[in-house]
Amino acid sequence: MDRLTGRSLDLCTGPLSRHGGGMNTKSAYVHGYSPQEARRLGDQADTLAGLLHAGTAYAAGSRVLEVGCGVGAQTVHLARSSPGARIVAIDRSAESLAQAQEYVTAREPWASVEWHIADLHDLPFGVGEFHHVFACFVLEHLPDPGRALAALRRVLRPGGTLTVIEGDHGSVVLHPDSIHAHEVIGHQVRLQAAAGGNALLGRALQPLLSDAGFDQVMVRPRTAYADATRPALVDGLTRKTFIAMVEAVRDQALSTGLTTAADWDRGIADLRLTAEEGGTFHYTFFKAVGVKPLA
Ligand SMILES: C[S@@+](CC[C@H](N)C(=O)[O-])C[C@H]1O[C@@H](n2cnc3c(N)ncnc32)[C@H](O)[C@@H]1O
Repeated sequence: MDRLTGRSLDLCTGPLSRHGGGMNTKSAYVHGYSPQEARRLGDQADTLAGLLHAGTAYAAGSRVLEVGCGVGAQTVHLARSSPGARIVAIDRSAESLAQAQEYVTAREPWASVEWHIADLHDLPFGVGEFHHVFACFVLEHLPDPGRALAALRRVLRPGGTLTVIEGDHGSVVLHPDSIHAHEVIGHQVRLQAAAGGNALLGRALQPLLSDAGFDQVMVRPRTAYADATRPALVDGLTRKTFIAMVEAVRDQALSTGLTTAADWDRGIADLRLTAEEGGTFHYTFFKAVGVKPLA
């Protein structure tokens, strides 16, 4: 797994675009904010909703903060699982937030969602305002997830819960296996690390939440496995979520000299074989829940 960590690259760019708000990070957001990425987030959320949202249902009337809501892909499922909850969704990207509002209103018109442009490190809310906080695929993009967790803990009321869902690219198991496919996945991990994130964060959630002062921290791996007997998962998970995410960093991988076009294309071709007849793909997500102590 160490072959994936590659934290030595320095790909930091200049000021963040208007999407990033220029608030706190030094580098580009690895997935970007393209229409393709918005579609990928929607495919990902819809394909994995049963797996990832199972067990998350908030009482009617409770105040729930979703941080890093992006284009609203998870907000839709939060609202569906918790009818009557009062959701507040924030993201630092104004454009994503506008898309999220439109997306959620079209799919869950009765949902109660308030939208705010904000950086999760500097939330415009008072101490203990929320019963629950939810973050999905966000901490993995932050240079200091511990600092982010402290900011989320501040706005939670004592006894309130924090739910964090992250992936971990070290959990990928492929058939047919291919060193070339693992190499391109490694490039995605390296680029995310160079942008200040960590695509291997899932495995670290338990100590992270405990160190940030949460009690009763429980982490449960949520394993996704796709083969020809599950065509919807092959399409939704293997192709449209995972392969699409790796393919999206092609230009960054080439321009930074991580690989050549020929090596990249060979790795992607091998990765695609896992979504063909006879191929299989396995990935583990990690879902953590912690409680803010009463005193
Ligand atoms: C991979 S997307 C996930 C979006 C959504 N949670 C989902 O699962 O579909 C990560 C999101 O986190 C947002 N984000 C990253 N850093 C942030 C920060 N410091 N404050 C607020 N949002 C942030 C990005 O703008 C992006 O929309």
